[in-house]
Amino acid sequence: MKSLGILLSGRGSNFVAIADSIDAGRIPDARISVVISNRADAPGIAIARARGLTALVVPSKGRAREEHDREVVAALNQHRVDLVCLAGYMRLLSPSFVQEFPHRILNIHPSLLPAFPGLEAQEQAFAYGVKVSGCTVHFVDEELDHGAIIVQKTVPVLDGDDEHTLATRILEQEHLAYTEAIKIVLGGSFEVAGRRFVAS
Ligand code: GAR
Repeated sequence: MKSLGILLSGRGSNFVAIADSIDAGRIPDARISVVISNRADAPGIAIARARGLTALVVPSKGRAREEHDREVVAALNQHRVDLVCLAGYMRLLSPSFVQEFPHRILNIHPSLLPAFPGLEAQEQAFAYGVKVSGCTVHFVDEELDHGAIIVQKTVPVLDGDDEHTLATRILEQEHLAYTEAIKIVLGGSFEVAGRRFVAS
């Protein structure tokens, strides 16, 4: 049985999608052993508690990144986490955090990376006028929205879209993509050659 640690800062819909996939058997032999938020008011943390999961708040406000990350890493290790899933965790991880979990931290981003990294990716894509956007699940490395890509899903930008309708359609694909990526990574049959993730 593999243990997942979920890190989130807000709404938590990707966390819920992962939890539902585990409950439904779409991600076999896995459980969520801890959900951690840097914000006490994150709706995702209340949902985790309501689902009976271990939910921790490690406040980040006013603290040095390294110090905060050390506390998060300690909590993940205490819960024997095999795979860390960032699910709307709006913080850059310090190098020592990344190095603690080599190829064991995933992130989801609401664009087709390397296009539109950073905040409000859906709005960036809409304003740029792209005709196709989507989402990316990737390994986390020391740069923002940068590591090897595991799964991408495309979403057409329709003439009638605004940034909200586009974001909603991307989010539906995020929920599918994250489950797919976690299943592949936990399966362990893959190689990472440079930037290329190849399932074997
Ligand atoms: C998601 O759209 C996720 O891709 C994005 O934040 C949202 C969180 O929603 N993450 C990033 O932009 C990371 N750079 P959720 O809390 O409902 O899962």
